[in-house]
Amino acid sequence: MAAAPSDPPRQRLLRVAACTGPEVALVVDGQAVTAREGESVLSAVLGVVDHLRLHEVSGELRAGFCLMGACQDCWVWFADAPRGRACTTPVREGMQVFTRPPPGLLP
Ligand code: FES
Repeated sequence: MAAAPSDPPRQRLLRVAACTGPEVALVVDGQAVTAREGESVLSAVLGVVDHLRLHEVSGELRAGFCLMGACQDCWVWFADAPRGRACTTPVREGMQVFTRPPPGLLP
């Protein structure tokens, strides 16, 4: 069913130019996400949902702030690497991203 013109978009970012690189499949919090080679994890996530994580204290929705690696507002966890910034980490085929600390890891 098509969304009505007045429905707000579910995703936070809207593409203004076509991404033409090869498709990259990743998993974010157990959900399959398709991105394009060269895209950041933050861009891939915000292309399908309206936030990246919840604020640790207030619980408010967060979607990154600076988008260039300076503010620390986009930290996520990776299954095969240390915690990192979603805005400066390029997507990789098969990568698993967690927007909340995975069980057994410290926040
Ligand atoms: S959004 Fe600021 S460091 Fe990623």
